[in-house]
This record gives sequence, structure tokens and C-alpha cells, in this order.
Amino acid sequence: MSKIFISCALPYANGPCHLGHIRSTYLPADIYARYNRMVGNDVLLVCATDEHGTPIAVKADKENKKPIEISKRYHDMIVKDVESMNISLDNFTRTTDEKHYEIAKNFFKDLYDNGFIYREDIQQLYCPNCNKFLPDRYVEGLCPVCGSEARGDHCEKCGRALDPTELDEPHCITCGTTPVIKDTFQYAFKLSDFEDDLKDYIQNNENLPANVKNYASNWLNDGLNDWILTRDMDWGIPVPLEEAKGKVLYVWIEAFLGYISSASQWSEQSGKKWEEYWDDFVVHFIGKDIIYHHSIFWPGLLKAYGCKLPDMIYAGEFLSLEGEKMSTSKNWVIWIADFVKDYDPDLLRYYLTINAPLNKDSDFSWDDFQRRNNDELADVIGNFLHRTFTFTRKYFDSKIPEYANPSAEDEEFKKAIEELPAIAGEYISKFEFREGLLEIFKVAKKGNKYFNDQEPWKAVKEDMQKAANCLYLSNQLAKTLAYTLKPYLPTKADAIAKIMNIDDLSEWKDASVFLPSGYEINKAKPLFKKIDDEVIEAEKAKLQENLKESSEDENMSDLISIDDFDEVVIKIGQVLEAEKIEKSDKLLKLQVDIGEEKPRQIVAGLAKFYSPEELVDRKVCVVANLQPAKLFGTLSQGMILATGGSGALLSPDENGKVGERIQ
Ligand code: MF3
Ligand code: ZN
Repeated sequence: MSKIFISCALPYANGPCHLGHIRSTYLPADIYARYNRMVGNDVLLVCATDEHGTPIAVKADKENKKPIEISKRYHDMIVKDVESMNISLDNFTRTTDEKHYEIAKNFFKDLYDNGFIYREDIQQLYCPNCNKFLPDRYVEGLCPVCGSEARGDHCEKCGRALDPTELDEPHCITCGTTPVIKDTFQYAFKLSDFEDDLKDYIQNNENLPANVKNYASNWLNDGLNDWILTRDMDWGIPVPLEEAKGKVLYVWIEAFLGYISSASQWSEQSGKKWEEYWDDFVVHFIGKDIIYHHSIFWPGLLKAYGCKLPDMIYAGEFLSLEGEKMSTSKNWVIWIADFVKDYDPDLLRYYLTINAPLNKDSDFSWDDFQRRNNDELADVIGNFLHRTFTFTRKYFDSKIPEYANPSAEDEEFKKAIEELPAIAGEYISKFEFREGLLEIFKVAKKGNKYFNDQEPWKAVKEDMQKAANCLYLSNQLAKTLAYTLKPYLPTKADAIAKIMNIDDLSEWKDASVFLPSGYEINKAKPLFKKIDDEVIEAEKAKLQENLKESSEDENMSDLISIDDFDEVVIKIGQVLEAEKIEKSDKLLKLQVDIGEEKPRQIVAGLAKFYSPEELVDRKVCVVANLQPAKLFGTLSQGMILATGGSGALLSPDENGKVGERIQ
């Protein structure tokens, strides 16, 4: 028995799960975990939401919310999505969890104390308009290597991890300004020290699949640079060093540690040691876009920490939708929450597994989904099971009949049933999930053919033993299907088990043990239904509709309606009094007449541009329906309109009367 540490890549908590998440990481990890538990291995399957970093900070900025509000919202959704797909995680935590902070800080500190992390003066992109450094996704431009549109930290096209300063034609994603380069300092990891270790790891680890090996070898041949591990940002885990105020850990270094913090949280709850699992066999399921991080950065960090490196990194290739790249911004996507509202999650698990091997690109199309559901699940597997169960009930009093004087066809079919668990299991253990499922499907198809060829409906009248043999074996296959399908389609497998009076499907070795003659089964319900054409047409129409709506949203995104503008009440006012606010070189306190009973007290950032005397008597434009606020302890009941950079004050011409609304 081995202990296996399995992880799924941590999803960013900036959106719910869609088909792509399930295909590349959760589903394969779950199939692998479930199978290994069934063969008696001790499995620890962990994940967490990745809650720091610029994707969440950017989204929070856009929605005018705190990052933690955003990440909490999506954490909760992701938990539901994962549960609805029956992913059998042992623990799911968050990178905003206290324990994770502690583990991440200690890890950084350890590497720093041991000289693997050093302080470096560097130059970074800075937006002069937003007055801030632009880490990672705050900047976009062109990839210096392949020329495609890229984010500051990563080029999706060629898969390379980037530094924002490398981008051609960079621009600030908040305001579009071309950033300038400014001096600052950060902390870097001596990744280059580990080049030889990593080469050795990639070349000599027999488990690693070809796509991971190829990518990693190419990157290693190009040579490695040291890796900057910190950022100037508010959102993140503070760098645990006195001198590093205002700096946080780069999201990637701590996201990896989410595997560990999730595992150690589990240890606290279960009383078992996660380290034993790590020491035995570690498998990371990831998407193809983060091979660089997992084959270079993570093993580099682990090596420096003095820890065993992962045994296996399984990288799922991309999933497209109706032949087009999925895009959440264009709403060209199917959300898991929407899917499971209308369909059994097992149908999706089946489709995503059988459609293509994980190491090949795959496509989800509604027509193909319907075809596979109707022709394969319903017509082959469902039909075989249903015929077997109803026939057993009708002609054999719901009992498995005697097997005697088998024909050559009987024996050949029997052999196929007996061999199935070993063949399918072998595939799963080699991460060839599709092959395993194809094998199961093949034998189910054989079962259907055998049932047809034996014609038990005729045999019951002419040759009862022939019918008995047919139903004996068909029931055995039904049972074997329940076991072998369990890692793939857990709820459907349980439904088969229920009909067959099998309490649980926990041991793979029972898959090939035949049920005795006389064993009683229950009344069957149909397990798989066909999906009608109209349903599929409606799904396709919905996708197109979403796409259209999102492109309309996009065109409209910078514009406001007249009603929006109407909500802002701007009035002509006249300054009655003005004075400086102590301890502030920017602010003035004004009393402004806007035609109301009492003058309004307004704090304005005009001190750098006007003396108080210059303002008295001036006519100004005032936002009159702003929520009152306190600035430097002084109440402000409105806003004076002026430009930010030069303090140019907007004032009405001589026609303007105090109190008049501007519209
Ligand atoms: N959140 C990252 C992404 O979606 C993945 C993090 S994986 C981990 O690309 F290794 F950091 F956990
Ligand atoms: Zn900017």
C-alpha cells in the first residue's frame, strides 16, 4: 500500500468554475484519487482557492470592493461547484487562511535565512497617472518572445512566465497610460543556482509526461534567471522582514504552499501526518498554462527548502468550446453551476473523460455531448443495464440464474468481464483515464452485442439454459461496470450498485468477483436518458445569446446613460469664506453658498493652487448631492469641481446664478 499526495491546481478566487477547470484538474485528480482509494492506497487529495495576486485585486478595483470580499464570494461558489461535480477532496482551504499565512511566511523566512533569497535593487513599471507600481496583471502589452498580446506576468500564447518590464508596448490596465520605469527594491530567489538540479529532475524523472518534459527542457536550455518573489502591493501576505514594509509575497510562491497548508489543515483535523503522503508519492494535477511554474519554480523552491520534489506533474491540455477558445470575458463559457442545474454531473464527467486524452486538446460541443450521451451512455451502457435488470426480473424472479454448459460465446464473454477491472485499472494507474473508460465502454458494447446474439427472449421458450447463461453473465458485467465506473461516474455507479443490492463499491478487487446464482436484485429504474434535439438547440442558442450580450456590454462599458448623469446634482455656488486646514498642505476649508438656507462647508484640495483670499467671492461649480465625509477631521458636504493636475477651477460665466443647477 502506498500513500499518495494528490493536489489540484488552486483556482483563482476571481470567478466560479467552468468546464475547463473540471477537465484539466479536478476530474482527473478525482478519478485518480477514487481509483487509488479503491485499490487500497491511502490517498490525500487537497486543494484551496488562490486568493491573492493581481487578478483578484484588479477585479476588486473594478467593482469598488475589498479583495477579500471578492475572494470570499468566489471561494464559496467554487466550493459549491466542486461539490456538485462530486470531487472527493479531503480538504479545501483558502490562501487567506491564517495557517496559510504562517506557513508561507515561515517558508520565505527559511529560504531567506539560508541565503537563497536576496534583496535586489530593481526597476519596475510605474503608472504616473495611477501613482502606483504595476505588478503582473496590472499591465498588458506584447510578449517579447512571440509578439502576442500578453499580460505582465505571463504569455498565454507561448506559455512563458514574464516580467512586466520585458513587455513591448506596455500599458496600465486601469487607465491605459504607458508606464514609466522606476527604481525600487524587491527580494529575489536564486533560481539560477538550481539549474543543474532541475535538469536532473526533469530528465531523470520517469513519471513526468512528455508535455511537461518538453516544455521544461526547452526552458532549461534557455537558461534560468533568478526569480523576483515580492511585490509592491497591499493585497497579499506581508513579506516577513522589518525592512520590507508595504511589500507582499508574489502570489505564486505562496500559492504553491496552498498545497501544503491545505494538507496540514487536514492533518490537524484527522490526526494523520500529511508528510508521510508527501514522502511517498506526490502528484500535481495542473493545466498546461502553468507547466512553467510547476516544473521550474516549484521544484526550485522545494529543492532550496530541502524537500522531496513532486513525483508526478500531470498537465491537462486546453479545452475549447464549440471549436473556439473559451473566454470568460466574452462569456464564451459554460459555468458548472449552470450545467449541473440541468444535467447530471456524471454526464459531463463521462464526456470530458472520453472525448480526448488529457494530454491532447479537447473540445466541448453540445451536439457531440448529445451524441455521446444518447449513443453511448443511453444506447450502450444504459440499454445493456436496463435489459439485463428487467429481463432478470421478468424471467428469473429477480434472481441471478445458474450458469451451466456454457457455449464458446459465453466463455469468451465471461473472459472479457473478468479481465476488465485489471485492464481499466492499469490504465487509470498510468493516468490514461480515457483509455480506461474506453475499455469499459468496449466491454459494455460487447455485452449488448452478446445479449442480442443470445436472443434470451427467444431462448426462454426454446433453450432455458442458454437464456440463464446470458443473464448470469450479463448481471456479472453489470456488477463489474458498477465497480469500474465508480471512479468515473460515482453517482451512476452507486445507482447500479443499489439496484444490485451492493452496499458499497469501495474495493476494486471485488469488481471481478462474480455474484452467486440465486442472488437477488431490485427493480430497475432507467439510469440514462436521451437528450432531445430541442434541448440542445436551446443550449446552443443560449451560448450565442450570451456572446451577443457580452459584446454589447463591452461596447457600452465606458458610457453612462443620461439617467446616470442625472443622478449627479451640480449647482452654482459662491465661496463666502476660505481657510487653510492645519497639517495639510493640500486642503482648504470653504463655506459655500449654493442657494440653500445655510452655506455648505466643503473641504477642497486646492491649497496648492490658490490662497484662501483668492477664492473668496469666486463662483464655482459644486456637486451638491455627494455623501458627506470627513477629511482631516473636518466635515465636507460637497465637492468643488476642478482638475486634479493643475487645479483649474470650473466656474460659470456671468449668467450663472447662485443655486442654479447645471444640466
Ligand atoms: N491560481 C493559479 C492559476 O489558476 C494556479 C495556482 S496553482 C498553485 O493559474 F500551484 F499555485 F497552487
Ligand atoms: Zn494607470
